[in-house]
Amino acid sequence: AKKIILDCDPGHDDALAMTMAVASLKIDLLAVTTSAGNQTPDKTLNNAMRMLTLLHREDIPVAQGNRAPLVKPLETAPEVHGKTGLDGADLPDPDFAVQDIPAIELIAKTLRASTGPVTLVVTGPMTNAALFLRVYPDLAREKIDQIVFMGGAMGLGNWRPSVEFNIFVDPEAAKIVLNFGIPLVMAPLNVTHQAQIMKDEIAAIKEIDNPVGQAFYGLLSFFEQYHENPKWGFKGAPLHDPCTIAWLIDPTMFTTDRMNVDVETQGDLTRGETVCDYYQLTGKPVNTEVMLGIDRSRFIKLVMDSLKSFD
Ligand code: BDR
Ligand code: CA
Repeated sequence: AKKIILDCDPGHDDALAMTMAVASLKIDLLAVTTSAGNQTPDKTLNNAMRMLTLLHREDIPVAQGNRAPLVKPLETAPEVHGKTGLDGADLPDPDFAVQDIPAIELIAKTLRASTGPVTLVVTGPMTNAALFLRVYPDLAREKIDQIVFMGGAMGLGNWRPSVEFNIFVDPEAAKIVLNFGIPLVMAPLNVTHQAQIMKDEIAAIKEIDNPVGQAFYGLLSFFEQYHENPKWGFKGAPLHDPCTIAWLIDPTMFTTDRMNVDVETQGDLTRGETVCDYYQLTGKPVNTEVMLGIDRSRFIKLVMDSLKSFD
């Protein structure tokens, strides 16, 4: 199985990504670290721990990351994810303890203990990933084979006209990660907006007769409401973060292109925009495999099968 560390800010779609990773025999989830993003750092930590409690995977170590982005003040997304960051379901309180070391130390410890390469999956702002690469560059180069992340877009935005939320929250961190030199795989809005779960599919989750399915019926019903605003033109709710895990489980459901991706950190209108050099205009080296298309029905089947796999 592919060994991964999940750095996340749960968040409804982060919670689903975590659940799919736990469900898959192809993935070995070694550790979870939390970032500040969708909600404040204590709430995202609590949510990650509540999810692992629901999934009966209290054995997976969890550590808390940075309390704020590297440079900008923290901005959260309560309008998308609610007051708790994971509104819509009654989740169990955590029944295990958080690691008493910060996220970057848990990442270091996990990498050192691993015999083979580990994939770092980032589904929130890149603050922890950037700090880790700055503090432990050699360990990162030695042990991390790729960084698979949800963030950015090619010409789209969901927080500013051309800026996606995760990169918006910590553009300086994203710049460090994208320019570090470890191969990157990116799930931009271009693909995650195709990865929609429709209302009738959410209704079908209600029939999944286990606590995980029941929790996600509530969570995704809440998450879907924000996306009903006609301005988006959605027919359902985009499952952003699960694209990272789906790609690791079965990359053949995606089409990708390879290009250089960098981040704008200065622009008045564009701070946090991912600049994707689709036509290789800069001559800068290819650093990123960018997901651009998805077979939606196979993806939704994977989501459903993951939820059904729990007792
Ligand atoms: C990203 O922002 C968050 O709201 C989601 O969890 C996802 O990681 C989408 O822009
Ligand atoms: Ca997220």
